[in-house]
Amino acid sequence: MSLFYHNLLRPLFFKLDPEQAHDIACNVLGFAERFRITKLLTRSFFRTESTPIELMGLTFPNYLGQAAGLDKNGFFPGMSSSLGFGHIEVGTVTPKGQPGNPRPRMFRYPKLNALVNRMGFNNAGSQALAEQISKVYPKGERFSPLGINIGKSKDTPLDQALVDYLAAFSDVAPQADYIAINISSPNTPDLRDLHQEKHLKPLLANIRSHNLEWAANNDCRPIPCVLKISPDEDYKSLEKIVSLALDNSFDGIIATNTSIYRNEASQGIRFEKGGLSGMPIERKSTEAIRFVAKLTNHKLPIIGVGGIFDRDSALRKLDAGASLLQIYTAFVYDGPNFPSKLANSLAYRKRQWS
Ligand code: FNR
Repeated sequence: MSLFYHNLLRPLFFKLDPEQAHDIACNVLGFAERFRITKLLTRSFFRTESTPIELMGLTFPNYLGQAAGLDKNGFFPGMSSSLGFGHIEVGTVTPKGQPGNPRPRMFRYPKLNALVNRMGFNNAGSQALAEQISKVYPKGERFSPLGINIGKSKDTPLDQALVDYLAAFSDVAPQADYIAINISSPNTPDLRDLHQEKHLKPLLANIRSHNLEWAANNDCRPIPCVLKISPDEDYKSLEKIVSLALDNSFDGIIATNTSIYRNEASQGIRFEKGGLSGMPIERKSTEAIRFVAKLTNHKLPIIGVGGIFDRDSALRKLDAGASLLQIYTAFVYDGPNFPSKLANSLAYRKRQWS
């Protein structure tokens, strides 16, 4: 399958505009999602065997998850699970659907194993996502836990961001195994300002009380909430962010989103504007994980994401303090065989952290 992807499918896909190729792949997966038999066959072909990981009150069949952005509207979570992903994060969704930025807005850099995107949260809205998930990946029928990643709409001013997060939270809560609060995409104006204490403190406190209220009303436990952070914050800022996450009983940190910086590996390349992902951000996101893990003495679970392309880069993140991992860019470059291959290569590694 790997040879088939690298020699046949990928050259064809890479002749197309990146977003067009992405849409075709999503449509194929979305079509396959409708049939139980395709999911079962796929699962048996891409079988993963791993010691399950207990984290945030959930059971993950393996270390490797699908990062947010790949399946924004939840079209194929069952297929992702069958391909070997041990958790699937859908979204980012905003309370109202929005078209995102004008195209082109996704760019490939094959020599660097990198992508740049400035999608701008194109999505169908949090209610539409919840309906879709209830149909294709209902609770109780899941092999891999489902995270739902939420954000604020482009036209919502920063001082109203909380309203958006709470509305999206209420919409998706019934379907989510965990909720990821995304404050770190670089393509929504001002979003990253939410890393600042004056914005983050009330945001996290209100999400926390909303979650408790939701749990009381629904007679269940609060939904595990994780905060997805940028790799471009300095250590001082990370310290504040982590302390606020702990103060507000957040269940984990996702480190990291894409980067707006271009590093030495990318010299001589004319980059588009947007968030850089893939190999060039590996070190930066691993350093963020290491810092957060040290700061919390490994007590706050970390989902490590950014530039994982093989077993070694995955191990570097686990060694730095991540408890789970996610990929996006490597899936584009290495194809449908990659998640199960990588998950299996990590399968019986002893878990080190909380
Ligand atoms: C992303 N990413 C992303 N993250 C997020 O929280 N919400 C989103 O909607 C998106 N959308 C998105 C689109 C595209 C085209 C890419 C490439 C990435 C970021 C993604 O989840 C991940 O954090 C980074 O891409 C780093 O991981 P990789 O790609 O280096 O494995």
